[in-house]
Amino acid sequence: MQKKTFTLIDNRTGKEVEYPIIEGTRGPAAVDFRNLFKDTGTFSYDPGYTSTASCNSTITFIDGAKGELRYRGIPIEILAKEHSYLETCFLLLNEHLPSISELHNFDLELRHRAFLHEGLRNLFNAFPDNAHPMATLSASVTALASFYQEHLDMNNETEYHEMAHRIIAKMPTLAAFAYRHSLGIPFIQPDIDLSFTKNFLTMMRAYPGGKMHLGPLGHEEIKEIEVRALDTIFTLHADHEQNASTTVVRNVASTGAHPYVAISSGIAALWGRAHGGANESVIAQLEMIGSVENVDAFIARAKDPNDDFRLMGFGHRVYKNFDPRAQVLKKLQDELKETLGLDSRLLDIAGRIEEIALNDEYFVSRHLYPNIDFYTGIILTALKIPKNMFTPVFVIGRTVGWITQWIEFKKDPSSKIARPRQLYLGD
Ligand code: CMC
Repeated sequence: MQKKTFTLIDNRTGKEVEYPIIEGTRGPAAVDFRNLFKDTGTFSYDPGYTSTASCNSTITFIDGAKGELRYRGIPIEILAKEHSYLETCFLLLNEHLPSISELHNFDLELRHRAFLHEGLRNLFNAFPDNAHPMATLSASVTALASFYQEHLDMNNETEYHEMAHRIIAKMPTLAAFAYRHSLGIPFIQPDIDLSFTKNFLTMMRAYPGGKMHLGPLGHEEIKEIEVRALDTIFTLHADHEQNASTTVVRNVASTGAHPYVAISSGIAALWGRAHGGANESVIAQLEMIGSVENVDAFIARAKDPNDDFRLMGFGHRVYKNFDPRAQVLKKLQDELKETLGLDSRLLDIAGRIEEIALNDEYFVSRHLYPNIDFYTGIILTALKIPKNMFTPVFVIGRTVGWITQWIEFKKDPSSKIARPRQLYLGD
């Protein structure tokens, strides 16, 4: 039988060391290098963790070469088409899809937990009017930790699930508060009669008092197709294994800090434009390009090694063929084109960029394909969600992933404090 080990030879000394290979249930195997330093006195050097598995996990699987993404074994395309965001949340937390009664109870519990403590209003009011909602959101999630200080018993599932349900339920309310504060309009608390996603859209759009704003034809009610579109976007964002923000959440978890503080740090990491902040940057870039005629000049800038301009919404560390989330959204975008009246000028510019990039040697040879963020912005704009709320929408969807990863980390007996080493090159 083939030996499942990996032999390293230190050519300075000729010393050979053998390491076990650990097989995963899907995807590449990993070499267990945990004893490398003890055995050889050297560290592995891997900035950006391009070849390092930092943990084991049963939550999400990605095959970047095949463009495959699964939550708890179920392909993302099936979840996006046949299941709601709340079903997806339940699946991530409980490792199985809910029965009708489980879903009913889960939904009810989230509705009950969605309101915010009155004390939190004061925190929002301390921020300047023009504060970016991501700054306010991250701070308010840290503040939330101070309202729930109890020590969690990780052997008590009811206890840690309650902690998870609370943050999932409150995140849309926190995000909507952050947005309403940025406009200087009164906060509204969630409505217990509304579903998770409709509630968020309502808290974003409603006139103080809870009624929808008046359009030319009377009250502009939220359409079911809008709710479905946003629900799909939440599902596509729900988890994405060990990306930058999730790694931050796990690293903060490793120090024993409060779970909401870990999530607040995840929000901060997500904000950057190489990660979740890309969705806001995509629309800003499309607006800057302005018309189809200008696309070629920007493509030339993206290809110029002396220009740090990058095409936002293109490329991914793991997907080297296509991003399956982007494919679901492209279909959704086509479906919504007529019904929601997507911005045709932005669509034309985006379409031209996509056409060039998918055929241009620069992008093809580097495996740079449109990612999820390339498509979310145009859809969110049609849902009347402003640019500065695109990344908070990503946060709402991803909260379940972060907290599920937090739970997995805390329950894994092999978890240790995150403490990488360095290659020192100074004096
Ligand atoms: N436009 C132009 N060139 C690019 C782009 C881009 N968007 N992305 C990568 N490249 C080039 C890069 O210049 C490099 O070229 P060369 O080999 O000649 O130096 C090569 O492709 C490899 O790039 P990299 O930076 O080493 O790749 P990475 O895996 O470290 O970075 C990335 C992945 C997503 C940060 C990067 O592709 C990027 O900055 N994309 C734009 C931002 C974006 O859309 N982010 C959202 C990611 S999906 C949402 C999420 O999950 O967070």
